[in-house]
Amino acid sequence: MALQFSTNKIVLAASSFVLAGLLAIAFTGGCKSGSAAYPDRLTFFLTGDSRGYLEPCGCRRDQAGGLPGRATLMRAAPAANRVILDAGNLTPGGRPYEQMKTHYLMDGMSKIGYDAVNLGKTEAGLDLNTLRQMIAQSHLPFVSANVVAKRDGAPIVETSRIVTRGRLRIGVTGVTALDPIDCGPGVDVKPPLEALSSVINTLKGSSDYIVVLAFVDESTQRQIAAHFPEVNCILGGDVPQSSNTTQDANRAFLFNVTDRGKIMGEIDLKRKGNGYYAESSRGIKIMGDQVAKDTAMLALIARYKDELRDRRYELASAEGMERISGAASTADEFVGGTACISCHHDAHKVYEASGHAHAYTTLVKKNSQYDPECLSCHTVGYGLYSGFVDAQRTPQFENIQCESCHGRGKEHINTMQAAAATGSKVHKPSTLRPVTPATCIRCHDQENSENFHYATFWPKIAH
Ligand code: HEC
Ligand code: HEC
Ligand code: HEC
Ligand code: HEC
Repeated sequence: MALQFSTNKIVLAASSFVLAGLLAIAFTGGCKSGSAAYPDRLTFFLTGDSRGYLEPCGCRRDQAGGLPGRATLMRAAPAANRVILDAGNLTPGGRPYEQMKTHYLMDGMSKIGYDAVNLGKTEAGLDLNTLRQMIAQSHLPFVSANVVAKRDGAPIVETSRIVTRGRLRIGVTGVTALDPIDCGPGVDVKPPLEALSSVINTLKGSSDYIVVLAFVDESTQRQIAAHFPEVNCILGGDVPQSSNTTQDANRAFLFNVTDRGKIMGEIDLKRKGNGYYAESSRGIKIMGDQVAKDTAMLALIARYKDELRDRRYELASAEGMERISGAASTADEFVGGTACISCHHDAHKVYEASGHAHAYTTLVKKNSQYDPECLSCHTVGYGLYSGFVDAQRTPQFENIQCESCHGRGKEHINTMQAAAATGSKVHKPSTLRPVTPATCIRCHDQENSENFHYATFWPKIAH
């Protein structure tokens, strides 16, 4: 189907012939059906740097991003005129939990109907087998000119692909950049310019418009534009901030998106003579509570949560929960806040009235109580030795409690009980962890608690 416009029907070796070709179509009136013409308008949608981000967590208001909003916004544009592209960095990493998220993200993206997806830095950071498995599992049209197998320098995915819209053939390739030391075992990333030269040479002959998905910094993007005047557009992600609008670079334009896919690029192209120019563009912040949620994506996220529940012990073990794998107990462990009440009654009363005391309930309401990421901030010690596992095995560690801030309490209690029994004073240094504003910021970070200030938050729970 995709190759219904076989390349030998329109042989346009040099760009100057494109004009002649378009005029012929325009004036002969021979092409009644819209699909056989060069489209007058196109919309490029660009996402990137998603790093497994499926939906906003809900920790604060005004959060952006996620598949349900992304799908709704993209589907608003007519399919015949939209081209959906991703600059890469889909995966947060190679841990089983991270791979699971990547799997669902890719599933959602293939349902949305991406036209090309680049391999970014995080993909190149995976080991070759994991990367190959991830690609094989997905139905996404990956491209990369420079992420290769280390052993023989062979490409891991297609180096380019042709996306057709009507008669228009859009050649898409992709690059990233990564130090050899950061590449996953068995993976190598060739220098972007070197890798692009042969690919672009081929695309020149087989496409009318050339897009480079470039998960590289802006100076490398500008080098690509300077070296390859045939390139029409460079869409990237390895930048500090997403673009609001396109920027010109040599004969191409640049547009970048970053920060977990919260902002999506929308670039409207208009045909003019023998080419297309960016008529308007914007970075759309996908506001979780303002954009209608696509039901297919919501169903996918529900399945993701079911799988988290079904695989919770396996995941907890992989997240570093030693007790699951049967390790013996040690001197210092989490004991749970009720063990502190008898000696610190007042502190406990303050705690019970605080938001911390229902942090786990908050997750249950969102059906996220099996999500390792959420649990690490909404329980006592998920992911740490002797911490929360799940409500069945460790109900005493639900919510944020004394030990979430003060550290494991078993040894402290033993010491204090022994001291009380002998009537002696405690002289040795505290076995508890010192609590500083940095302790709070581990959870109250920019992403999850934008308005956190120690001076205003501490008084609410002072004890
Ligand atoms: C890095 C730590 C961290 C992670 C990870 C985290 N949270 Fe939170 N969450 C917080 C903090 C801190 C707050 C309180 C924010 C504030 O009041 O400023 C919060 C608040 C919330 C709230 C609002 C509670 C209320 O009563 O208003 C919800 C809902 C929530 N989180 C759900 C989640 C879910 C679901 C996940 C996983 C997808 C998650 N959180 C992951 C730290 C985290
Ligand atoms: C048997 C009584 C007892 C129990 C149970 C107990 N504490 Fe204490 N705690 C004390 C005493 C007594 C001190 C004061 C010690 C001192 O001044 O040297 C203290 C001091 C502290 C301090 C301040 C000094 C320090 O070591 O940092 C913190 C924080 C603390 N306790 C937290 C906890 C937590 C959390 C728990 C529950 C896990 C807990 N305590 C359980 C008796 C107890
Ligand atoms: C282990 C993670 C974690 C740590 C450490 C932590 N918090 Fe929290 N905090 C949360 C979460 C999660 C919530 C939201 C709970 C909910 O409503 O579900 C929260 C909520 C709060 C709230 C209530 C917010 C509101 O406006 O209602 C205050 C106040 C607060 N935290 C203060 C602090 C302070 C001060 C510290 C450091 C001394 C701290 N927290 C350390 C995770 C943490
Ligand atoms: C959100 C983090 C947090 C939680 C939860 C928390 N504390 Fe604290 N706690 C602090 C901070 C911060 C201080 C002040 C530390 C300082 O000023 O050195 C403190 C001080 C204390 C002190 C007094 C220490 C002293 O030197 O006077 C005790 C005792 C104590 N906490 C016990 C508890 C107990 C018991 C619980 C659970 C019922 C609890 N805390 C829950 C953060 C927390």
